[in-house]
Amino acid sequence: DGELIASRLMVNSSEKSVGRSVADVPQPSADGWRVNSSLVLMIRKDILRFLDAERDVSVVKSSLKPGDTIHYVLDRRRTLNVSHTLHKLLPEVSPLKNRRFKTCAVVGNSGLLLGSGCGQEIDSHDFVIRCNLAPLVEFAGDVGLRSDFTTMNPSVIQRVYGGLHNASDRERFVERLRALNDSVLWIPAFMVKGGEKHVEGVNELILKRGLSVRTAYPSLRLIHAVRGYWLTNKIHIKRPSTGLLMYTLATRFCDEIHLYGFWPFPKDSQGNPVKYHYYDTLKYRYFSNAGPHRMPLEFKTLKTLHSKGALKLTTLPCM
Ligand code: CTP
Repeated sequence: DGELIASRLMVNSSEKSVGRSVADVPQPSADGWRVNSSLVLMIRKDILRFLDAERDVSVVKSSLKPGDTIHYVLDRRRTLNVSHTLHKLLPEVSPLKNRRFKTCAVVGNSGLLLGSGCGQEIDSHDFVIRCNLAPLVEFAGDVGLRSDFTTMNPSVIQRVYGGLHNASDRERFVERLRALNDSVLWIPAFMVKGGEKHVEGVNELILKRGLSVRTAYPSLRLIHAVRGYWLTNKIHIKRPSTGLLMYTLATRFCDEIHLYGFWPFPKDSQGNPVKYHYYDTLKYRYFSNAGPHRMPLEFKTLKTLHSKGALKLTTLPCM
């Protein structure tokens, strides 16, 4: 069965669209890329056999109560107690329930975005997904401003907001959340032990300041299901990166998925240096084999999917 999906996904993408009028057939963009709608549908269906993004994007309130014990997804021996604060912020229903979009942008954080001029194009999509609270205002021309769904690994709180220990870090963080308005803030809180203090601090601030951001916390099965899907397709990823997770989720509710800022390489195609992140000085040590991700393998897979029209990977300037 896995072989079958693999061959359909990675090799044979020459399906013909049937039962469509000429007006329905997607037109190629300026660079000749065209969405392959039947492949998009097939991938959505295949992924649904492993996970349902509508459901797995977040644990909902009714499924837990304060005091419940959760085993961390990637370290089952350790546990977390569901606090009242966390419970209050669990959504009543999935934030993606019945959401459907014609086009979505998934924005990775590669330095390749610098000088890309892609901001306007990114913002023109119907739904924009961004990773790890990356800054926008100072880079708006290249990355845009719109965000409908933003991920935040708990480690960002320590690395970028000083663990929210002092007042100025807390204010900076609150300002960043205010800029999200009422979009979704997606916090993978149940992956590994270590970030729980930060998650609790974030949750308390959101409640105390009455921030309108809509919190979501991925289901306990999400990461294994996503890994399972890619493994079945012969893509051996130890732990999918946030960007790959977001693409996988987006297949459920987006007809056309455009990826920006995916470039896990220190040089561009001309040999010029590329920063790991467009906004800070983090280095490529994250790509050693000891790191959790296999972004270059993920990239290769995404590139193949691009060439088959399953998604559009933008790696060149937008203007
Ligand atoms: N990314 C990329 N190339 C880079 C940097 C990031 O392709 N040079 C993509 C990856 O899919 C990554 C996503 O953009 O998951 C978001 O970037 P980042 O916030 O840096 O994610 P990481 O913290 O590196 O990894 P993760 O959150 O997935 O653990």
